[in-house]
Amino acid sequence: MIKQSLSFIIFSLLSLAGTPNATGFHHGSNHKSSRIFNIMSFGAAGNGVKDDSQALLFAWKAACSVHKATLLVPSQYQFLVNPVTFQGPCNSSLIFQIDGIILAPQSIANSPKSNYFQWLNFKWLSNFTIQGTGTINGRSSQFQNQTSKGDQSPTMKPTIMRFYKSYNISVREIQIVNSPGCHLKFDNSRWIKVKNVTIFSSQESLNTDGIHLQNTRDVEIRKSSIGCGDDCVSIQTGCSNIQIRNTICNPGHGISIGGLGRGNSLACVSNVLVNNVKIQNSLYGVRIKTWQGGIGTVKNITFNNIKVSNVGTPIIIDQYYCDTSSPCDNKTDSVSVSSIKYHSITGTYSYRPIKFACSDSSPCTGLALRDVELVPSDWSKYYEKPFCWKSYGEMWGLVGKLNVGCLERGNNRLFKVLNKSHNYTCS
Ligand SMILES: *[C@@H]1O[C@H](CO)[C@@H](O)[C@H](O)[C@H]1NC(C)=O
Ligand SMILES: *[C@@H]1O[C@H](CO)[C@@H](O)[C@H](O)[C@H]1NC(C)=O
Ligand SMILES: *[C@@H]1O[C@H](CO)[C@@H](O)[C@H](O)[C@H]1NC(C)=O
Ligand SMILES: *[C@@H]1O[C@H](CO)[C@@H](O)[C@H](O)[C@H]1NC(C)=O
Ligand SMILES: *[C@@H]1O[C@H](CO)[C@@H](O)[C@H](O)[C@H]1NC(C)=O
Ligand SMILES: *[C@@H]1O[C@H](CO)[C@@H](O)[C@H](O)[C@H]1NC(C)=O
Ligand SMILES: *[C@@H]1O[C@H](CO)[C@@H](O)[C@H](O)[C@H]1NC(C)=O
Repeated sequence: MIKQSLSFIIFSLLSLAGTPNATGFHHGSNHKSSRIFNIMSFGAAGNGVKDDSQALLFAWKAACSVHKATLLVPSQYQFLVNPVTFQGPCNSSLIFQIDGIILAPQSIANSPKSNYFQWLNFKWLSNFTIQGTGTINGRSSQFQNQTSKGDQSPTMKPTIMRFYKSYNISVREIQIVNSPGCHLKFDNSRWIKVKNVTIFSSQESLNTDGIHLQNTRDVEIRKSSIGCGDDCVSIQTGCSNIQIRNTICNPGHGISIGGLGRGNSLACVSNVLVNNVKIQNSLYGVRIKTWQGGIGTVKNITFNNIKVSNVGTPIIIDQYYCDTSSPCDNKTDSVSVSSIKYHSITGTYSYRPIKFACSDSSPCTGLALRDVELVPSDWSKYYEKPFCWKSYGEMWGLVGKLNVGCLERGNNRLFKVLNKSHNYTCS
């Protein structure tokens, strides 16, 4: 009873402060409904044409102040929403229930540059859940021909949904589609759960990562389906304790740690587990990529039970990563790569089964391959042989026809002396 009247008071205060009145909003009789904030009650049209950004923000403001509130975007409606920021802190256990469709504007060509970073910006939230049967549609086609338009518009393409400095966040069930850039990004965040989410953009769409993690720890991605034109999951510096399980990546560029150490920067990634993942029709399977000249470490990474199908290079470590137009020089520094386990990686490749291109200055150590059985997707074609350079570790169990052999036996001890001391710590 107390909660109920308080939420009513808070809501009334918000109404006085200019929030449109909430018709169809039940106070009194039902405890639960008093915590449901339906965007339709805040003046939304829901026709996919009228701009419903204000209605959504009013509903957000009202729901944000109430304990265990639900902000409802109902099914059977489409809501056109411009770039918006959903800012916390909010009262605990807020649920954003998306059952309808949220549509990006047809064009952001004349809007401020800040709109090019992300479309739906969630910041400073904790104990917050997004769930529902709805779809978030980034309508990426407006960006399709952007590169050929000269320098009229910024080349940056917005992320659909980005979380910044947020903790205990759960994203479930929703679909995130047609992103101009990354689909779902977590930045400086912690305790993240992504479950049963569907992400889809075409294979041809450039730089459309599925899920992008940066400076984010304690992440679980489960039971999700991710298809896009770039990395399925991209793990950047500052990430630790990341688990990806029971997920499908198709199509895309596979699961990727890096590129790390660009511009001689410090990079730290550790304790990553990728388990029971299917990777299909992808350029790469499981990849670690670092730039020459970086410092820091990538360590304790496990890829377990990965089923690949029609994947260009299923297993790759590339310490010479370089995606600039001019070639990158070799440097004496390099992000070190150690303790990388590949257990039960099976299926078909379309280019080369394995590539380990490690640095001269800091070779990869502690590579452990067990039961890696990769066969060409079409036996009649020509394929590249496994490639190893400065890569140390062991291979055992079933290795099929691979017989990689190119891994050098050895352990870390040999290379400790090569590691230069820097004034950095990756904790
Ligand atoms: C959170 O909501 C509860 C009731 O729902 C209210 O009593 C409390 O004051 C709210 N806290 C904040 C910080 O708004
Ligand atoms: C989040 O929820 C947990 C567990 O219910 C609670 O301990 C914590 O204080 C909450 N955090 C915030 C910021 O409300
Ligand atoms: C992009 O270019 C193609 C081919 O020129 C054209 O058919 C298409 O309509 C353009 N798309 C947009 C959104 O301008
Ligand atoms: C996150 O959840 C955990 C466990 O429920 C809780 O201990 C912690 O305080 C929460 N953190 C925040 C920032 O709410
Ligand atoms: C996944 O989400 C769909 C709706 O998008 C739902 O029908 C299904 O039950 C969910 N599955 C699990 C395992 O949660
Ligand atoms: C390695 O990472 C896993 C998580 O993937 C973690 O459970 C384990 O404790 C880590 N091992 C070390 C030595 O940190
Ligand atoms: C960098 O080093 C690698 C391995 O020694 C070598 O194959 C490559 O040609 C070098 N690249 C340049 C630009 O010197």
